[in-house]
Amino acid sequence: MFLATRTDNRDIVYGEKSAEFVLNEMYIPPDTKIATDDGSVGFCGNVCELLTELEPAPIFACGPTPMLKKLTEISRQWNVQAFFSMESRMACGFGACNGCVIHTIDGYKKVCSDGPIFPAQMLKEF
Ligand code: FES
Repeated sequence: MFLATRTDNRDIVYGEKSAEFVLNEMYIPPDTKIATDDGSVGFCGNVCELLTELEPAPIFACGPTPMLKKLTEISRQWNVQAFFSMESRMACGFGACNGCVIHTIDGYKKVCSDGPIFPAQMLKEF
């Protein structure tokens, strides 16, 4: 949301399972496109399905790994860059325990201290 409120010419896409999980509107920037899996609010479907209806643009995302993998596919089809805020369980939070590592093309990286933002093309198995 921080990035979304500080960039122009962008589409913000936000998805949830259903209306009961959607954030209070005070936390959602104006003009945000909402998708719910059951169609109870906004677009009926997931954010990846909604995204493919929009104009190609660089992708910035956070969320579950299967969604990020699909967004990587979309970014390749669109020939745009994608950047993901990765999630991982953290013990120390400052780079000492290696508990939060993810596999990248440059070896294992710590989400807490090397990230949390990583280019999609850097992520292994994406
Ligand atoms: S949480 Fe310990 S290294 Fe990242």
